[in-house]
Amino acid sequence: MNNHFEPLLQKQLSRRSVLQFSLGAMLASAMPLSSAATMLHNHAQLLGFTPIPAADLLDEVMVPEGYRAEVFYRWGDPISDGPAFNMDASNSAADQMQQAGMHHDALQYFPLPKGSDNNDHGLLVMNHEYLDLDVIHTDGSHTHSPETYTADKVTKEQNAHGVSLIEVRQENGEWQIVRPSTYARRLTANTPMQISGPAAGHALLRTQTDPEGKNVLGTLNNCANGKTPWGTYLTCEENFHYYFVADPNQPRDADTERRWQRYKLGFSYYGWQQFDKRFELDKEPNEANRFGWVVEFDPYDPQSIPVKRTALGRFAHENVAHKAGKDGRLAFYSGDDSKFEYIYKFITRDAWDGTLGAQHGRLLDEGILYVARFEEDGSARWLPLVFGENGLTAENGFVDQADVLIHARAAADIVGATKMDRPEWITVHPHTDDVFVSLTNNSDRGSEDKPSKDAANPRNHNLFGHIIKFSEADATSTEFSWQVFVLGGEGEGEQFANPDGLYIDDRGVLWIQTDVSSSVMNDGRFKEFGNNQMLAADPATGEIRRFLTGPVGCEVTGVIMTPDMKTMWVNIQHPGEMLDVLQRRGINKSPQNPNAASNWPDHYPNGRPRSATVLITKDDGGVIGT
Ligand code: FEO
Ligand code: CA
Ligand code: CA
Ligand code: CA
Repeated sequence: MNNHFEPLLQKQLSRRSVLQFSLGAMLASAMPLSSAATMLHNHAQLLGFTPIPAADLLDEVMVPEGYRAEVFYRWGDPISDGPAFNMDASNSAADQMQQAGMHHDALQYFPLPKGSDNNDHGLLVMNHEYLDLDVIHTDGSHTHSPETYTADKVTKEQNAHGVSLIEVRQENGEWQIVRPSTYARRLTANTPMQISGPAAGHALLRTQTDPEGKNVLGTLNNCANGKTPWGTYLTCEENFHYYFVADPNQPRDADTERRWQRYKLGFSYYGWQQFDKRFELDKEPNEANRFGWVVEFDPYDPQSIPVKRTALGRFAHENVAHKAGKDGRLAFYSGDDSKFEYIYKFITRDAWDGTLGAQHGRLLDEGILYVARFEEDGSARWLPLVFGENGLTAENGFVDQADVLIHARAAADIVGATKMDRPEWITVHPHTDDVFVSLTNNSDRGSEDKPSKDAANPRNHNLFGHIIKFSEADATSTEFSWQVFVLGGEGEGEQFANPDGLYIDDRGVLWIQTDVSSSVMNDGRFKEFGNNQMLAADPATGEIRRFLTGPVGCEVTGVIMTPDMKTMWVNIQHPGEMLDVLQRRGINKSPQNPNAASNWPDHYPNGRPRSATVLITKDDGGVIGT
């Protein structure tokens, strides 16, 4: 319904106008006042639960009265009938291959059998983004005990990355992980994958072990995700640069230097290059070009080979959301989560015929990648990234279309896209087709030598982030209008900062998950927000209520529901991540003291914090959020 009164830009956003934009928009529109009032009046109450307070360093998951949250699937839990988790983290690399990875992120539910909308049997597929090096091994990683860092530790760390797929079933009202399962599988940083689309086989993707540039090992830093309408899973490679090292003293040509700098390549948080030379850029300069993509695989086929879809561009992909145009062509939206990076949309060349099946994956290989440019008047355009157009030419350093896609950031710089405050998740409203994007923060905006605030990024030193909403006439439109939906830290109701995960369920509830950094959480200006959390918003009224708070030091990221919306799974990532705040209070986490900050979810005396999927149900068996 919002399309009828898509608002004009509210230039100066006050607390009231942001949260009550619908009424303001109605009044500003051509719609007669009486019908606008009637629409608000007729709007069914979406949120029915009693909001919970912010959590101040509470090491538990909290949900509203009338709801239950149960730990469902922890780091190290077997995906099938494999080995159990050892509480001292002594599981081997081979064990880890058959267990849940670390740092659960986005997840999706695929009903079984395929094509059904079953609410009690399905596949739960999720990303494992990165690692807590204090916790992953018994005696720590390369930073703690370099002398005991081994190839097996590297493999274990690689196997704790990627994706896990488990089969889940509800019987007699209880959800279980099906063990053994013929579907269960792990994708890791070593799983064989193919490269497809315009950049497949390009010289910049060829390596010593893959002279064809079409076959790559693994996926990395799998942040958020997407699900295609034809029933496959899309996993997004975000901060892939943290895995590759380069010798700062090594001379290299200016083009390579410029390209690596644009992607922040050169320093690794891990030590993999010690035993796996493909992570050493000076030895294998193109390996990093094979990461930073959207990767598709068919969860229903345990033998399916994942495919990196290069037509969607290479950047720090947060997630990917889609919607269909009237002519059947599809749009896929994805943000590049880094300060002053961009929001992209890929439009398929061909129409989707509405049927299921992984063969439709080829739709992701042909089409045009666009990047967003926002104007001060509330309008915006999608600018095409096509070699030979808009300055994407040899004079500006581009070789061909593959080069444009491999260096999408540099291409977006040239066409004049709008630099955003760290675009995180994007979600599409199932009824209105409006698109919501979270911009998590950008403390550098307005600093010396950095871009200053603009209409779409309206605060300098943006500590708390915001969410913007845009409306398009069609998924294939190259113009749209937009507005700020909410500014973090400035709501009238429940307070939150740093929106990150976004998901709109089939009733139209916008679920907002937060990622306040562990360097500032529970302290100073961030104290009032407490632990990271999940809130529910009504997109039409702007009402926001706090639904869930996570344990100490965690991020809340990833949420999915069964089709009947009576079961919800939420992921808790990195409980007990080393908190600078706690460190300042004398609490020090280390491999010898792994549970100093959090001991969630097991709370064993000798335990360690474990990322985990939490199952949420309503005591009366009703729809979540009512
Ligand atoms: Fe993995 Fe931008 O969050
Ligand atoms: Ca995120
Ligand atoms: Ca984040
Ligand atoms: Ca995180």
